[in-house]
Amino acid sequence: MQKQKMNRREFVAAGAGAGMLASSSVFGQGPNVIAVRSKPVIVAAGNGNRSKDKDGLTCVARAFKMMTAGSDVLDSVIAGVNIVELDPEDTSVGYGGLPNADGVVQLDSSVMHGPKKIGGCVASLEGVRTPSLVAQKVMEETDHVLLVGKGAQDFARMMGFTIEDDLNTPRSRAAWIEWKRRTDPLHYIPTDQRGLKVPGDMAALRERERAGLEVARQMAAEGWFDIEHLYGTINCNGVNSKGEVCGVTTTSGLAWKIPGRVGDSPILGAGLYVNNDIGAAGSTGRGELNLISLASFVCVEEMSRGKSPKDAGMAAIKRIKDMVIQKRLLDEKGEPNVGINFYLVNKKGEFAGVTLKNPNGRSTYAVCDENGPRSIPMDALLA
Ligand code: GLY
Repeated sequence: MQKQKMNRREFVAAGAGAGMLASSSVFGQGPNVIAVRSKPVIVAAGNGNRSKDKDGLTCVARAFKMMTAGSDVLDSVIAGVNIVELDPEDTSVGYGGLPNADGVVQLDSSVMHGPKKIGGCVASLEGVRTPSLVAQKVMEETDHVLLVGKGAQDFARMMGFTIEDDLNTPRSRAAWIEWKRRTDPLHYIPTDQRGLKVPGDMAALRERERAGLEVARQMAAEGWFDIEHLYGTINCNGVNSKGEVCGVTTTSGLAWKIPGRVGDSPILGAGLYVNNDIGAAGSTGRGELNLISLASFVCVEEMSRGKSPKDAGMAAIKRIKDMVIQKRLLDEKGEPNVGINFYLVNKKGEFAGVTLKNPNGRSTYAVCDENGPRSIPMDALLA
């Protein structure tokens, strides 16, 4: 990726200015619809402001530039996340994403188009660097919403996508080999935690599970990958001056997952949800928590009841916190020891990035509006 930078004056001249002019438009008619001014904005996970394209634009900057130049909002946010999917240095998404336990990169993605009220998703897709574009094809070309595994790959081939044998990069392959060396991973939840009796030494099983996580933390500390890439993902949502809302989420999922494991990213309501009358929300982090809570849908529903994006996100995170009762997911204070994040935007263009905990303020989310692209610390539910 080229590291060339665009200064703010060039950025505004290149397209943000169009958004500033357009943002004064008013939409909404009829007795029950309040006129709303929409401020064009793109909101994404933190990696939406890291990888750059050949023009030096990050995901949020490219999406904002395209959107304010008149492109469809979904085309714009997908073009943004394509930068991250194609970046071999981002080990959480697309090409070079950390592989599953067998060393195979399996990708998940979802897209949702607010004005058209449709979506498309793919799960466990192998061999295509940009699963978000395949999800868009599912949405546009089929009468279905979700394709998985070999069926998704066959569909992608028929749609003209290049299918590669292996999406590992030297970096993701090296991290997988190192992980294999250090641990014999325990993938299945010990059955005593489901309230059943099991033979065997539960203390030893728990210790191995704890050791598996410790190995991952240690490898991250040594620079094999970014710890946030363990469940890393990118979600990117946009609203244009007409109040049109769209979103996309794309990921390589949990690092070294059981082959076939699917997280929240390709599930509408979990990894992404858009309601064109209200706004959009999407997620990164431990997808299993989101799959049992459908918290992106909760975020949008809370905004529909009048909550700000920040308060809506906090309500969704609180709901997740209250659902985490398994001991293996709690720390010594009895608080969830897991990461889960939401990125929200409402139809007016107000936005937020919320997380469960952000102890050192390191977790950020990415925004681009008329003030240009920037990273903002996530708001946390717990101290
Ligand atoms: N949130 C990404 C995953 O859990 O797969």
